[in-house]
Amino acid sequence: MLLLLPLLLSVSLVTAAPRHLRLRDSAKSHTATTTTTILDTVYGAADILQPTGAPPSIENDAKILPESDKSYSKKSGDTTLQRMSSSDVSAIYKTCWNGQLQWPLPGMPNPCLDVVAAQLNIFPLPITKPDTLTVHNYCSYNIYFNHFQGANMLESGNIAAGAKIDRPLFGSVLKVSKTPDMAKDVLVEYAVADGRLYYDLSLITCLGRTNGVENGDTSACAGHEAGLQLGNSKSKSFQCAAGAWCDDQAYLYQENLCKKQNPVWSCNQSDGLTMEFCASQRR
Ligand SMILES: *[C@@H]1O[C@H](CO)[C@@H](O)[C@H](O)[C@H]1NC(C)=O
Repeated sequence: MLLLLPLLLSVSLVTAAPRHLRLRDSAKSHTATTTTTILDTVYGAADILQPTGAPPSIENDAKILPESDKSYSKKSGDTTLQRMSSSDVSAIYKTCWNGQLQWPLPGMPNPCLDVVAAQLNIFPLPITKPDTLTVHNYCSYNIYFNHFQGANMLESGNIAAGAKIDRPLFGSVLKVSKTPDMAKDVLVEYAVADGRLYYDLSLITCLGRTNGVENGDTSACAGHEAGLQLGNSKSKSFQCAAGAWCDDQAYLYQENLCKKQNPVWSCNQSDGLTMEFCASQRR
């Protein structure tokens, strides 16, 4: 890990890191008991998706919406996010994980253009405490979490509707679910190295599945139906509008389909980090 650290720090995650902080275990089964550390994930062999046999075929009745279909925009309420053409997506996705990623996926829009995530203004920016991870549950239901540092579970618990928790900025991922079995989780991913904090939000493991592959159904993602926010007011706060397919602000595709720009940010760890579930219901 120490050898890998300078690599991590030398790469600007903001501009062009093809790899990111998302833990590789998010690509695996939830029943897997092994996880990898962030640094292993970012620069280790785990970056290659392990073959799991023939890729599952997509059900005949699964909808693969054509590019011209505007129902994504209707669903997300976002009519401004420009999306890549199918030929552009085809040109990049094969470069990921030795070409093992499946594309297209049922009900998934093409990713948005390969641009740096804008600072949106959908929700008021979150309040943070230095060196602290704050998690607000503004939803009307309890949410459940497992907090990890690499493979080590730091804490397992729940946050009641309207409640919040504060934790030291130690750890690597907070996995949050609508259900105590943690079957589908939103990942709040972060790392601190030499005073810098790196963070991102991943919705990949809470997406619905069709024959084993992710589809465009975000209904199991905790708080997503009423908006998500992760960040701080000093550098960047990712915002996902209620129910939006917000792939400029959060990971919704494995490895972000190898786009150059990824929804990862870094700042001084003293800026703190706050996650808001059901951000539109902040009181
Ligand atoms: C972070 O901010 C603190 C307080 O402003 C400063 O002392 C420190 O040098 C900064 N750290 C880095 C890594 O920039």
